[in-house]
Amino acid sequence: MPEPVNVWEYEQLAAERLEPGVHGYFAGGAGDERTLRENVAAFSQWRLRPRVLVDVSEVTAATTVLGAELSLPVLVAPVAFQRLVDPDGEVAMARAAAAAGTVMCLSAIASSRPSELAAECPAAPRWFQLYCFRDRGVTRALIDEAVESGFDAIALTVDAPRAGRRERDLRTGFEIPGELGAPAVAAAIGAERSVSIQEVFSLVDASLGWDDFGELAGSCSLPVVLKGVHTGEDARLAVQHGAAGIVVSNHGGRQLDGVPAALEMLPEVVAAVEGRCEVLMDGGIRRGTDVVTALALGARAVLAGRAPLWGLAVGGEAGALRVLQILRSEVELALTLLGCPSPCAVRVEHVRGGPRLDP
Ligand SMILES: Cc1cc2nc3c(=O)[nH]c(=O)nc-3n(C[C@H](O)[C@H](O)[C@H](O)COP(=O)(O)O)c2cc1C
Repeated sequence: MPEPVNVWEYEQLAAERLEPGVHGYFAGGAGDERTLRENVAAFSQWRLRPRVLVDVSEVTAATTVLGAELSLPVLVAPVAFQRLVDPDGEVAMARAAAAAGTVMCLSAIASSRPSELAAECPAAPRWFQLYCFRDRGVTRALIDEAVESGFDAIALTVDAPRAGRRERDLRTGFEIPGELGAPAVAAAIGAERSVSIQEVFSLVDASLGWDDFGELAGSCSLPVVLKGVHTGEDARLAVQHGAAGIVVSNHGGRQLDGVPAALEMLPEVVAAVEGRCEVLMDGGIRRGTDVVTALALGARAVLAGRAPLWGLAVGGEAGALRVLQILRSEVELALTLLGCPSPCAVRVEHVRGGPRLDP
């Protein structure tokens, strides 16, 4: 079988190789999966406007996010339970991200604990994604472990006070097997047993408010990023409450079906933030041209969830690394052909179009 040449081919191969329940969990979205589809489709509503006769003899995809240098403006998004697709799961993903020169964000409900990731790949730049569990002791222990294990930032995800209605999981009866070893889930339910996704999210504190976020951002020794922001109103509140960064995200179409594509929400958030913190986005990134479109609309960088996950599922650590390398070479080529020597050179004038909404 020839090696896949793009993310779509990794996605296709992963679909052929994964057991249907596991594939449905990773691929699926909520409800009618409108938002899931629109996350991807939104990129094709924009056209790129290249400038010519710009010196592009030296082009780099390198940039900084929260002051840290990355070799490409793509971070690895937090995706739960990665040992479902590869025995080394999150550890393999962290190694791939480090080899690609980018950050891996470890999920709060990962199948590896923060200290394990730090021990297995000490040099890897890493963020920790937090869910605030109803059991505040479990939440506090996770934050402490991430701080002690040398994580560089906390990303608090706030778009999932309950799980979205993911009908693929209902159809297959998919559950997270107890023997997978998901430390935070086991700690929060007090047992290592199989759990449905609905039950996992019932562990999350649905009463969380802005004061809680402000308290976390004010007391944590690491920068705190807010993930799952959809509107300008919430972006302003995030800045007021001390967010070091904002991730415009609809959780890959897995939560409230019917919200706009993440790319569509991005300009509103960028305008509301007025440069007071970095804005990132995720949802639907499959191509280097998707990345530069998001940069043009004001994202400092993007996160990719399923794309590297399909690489992990197909080829383990090497597969995840290959996907990140494909994305980097696509970003470099897109920058070159757009007339932009680096990600910072991409401006809103490099795109036109966007969604045409009825008034
Ligand atoms: C299977 C799966 C599990 C996910 N788990 C988490 C998670 O534990 N925490 C979180 O903040 N986001 C989670 N996400 C959302 C991703 O971080 C990201 O927002 C989304 O995947 C981006 O869309 P993309 O897959 O099209 O790149 C998950 C997404 C998927 C597909």
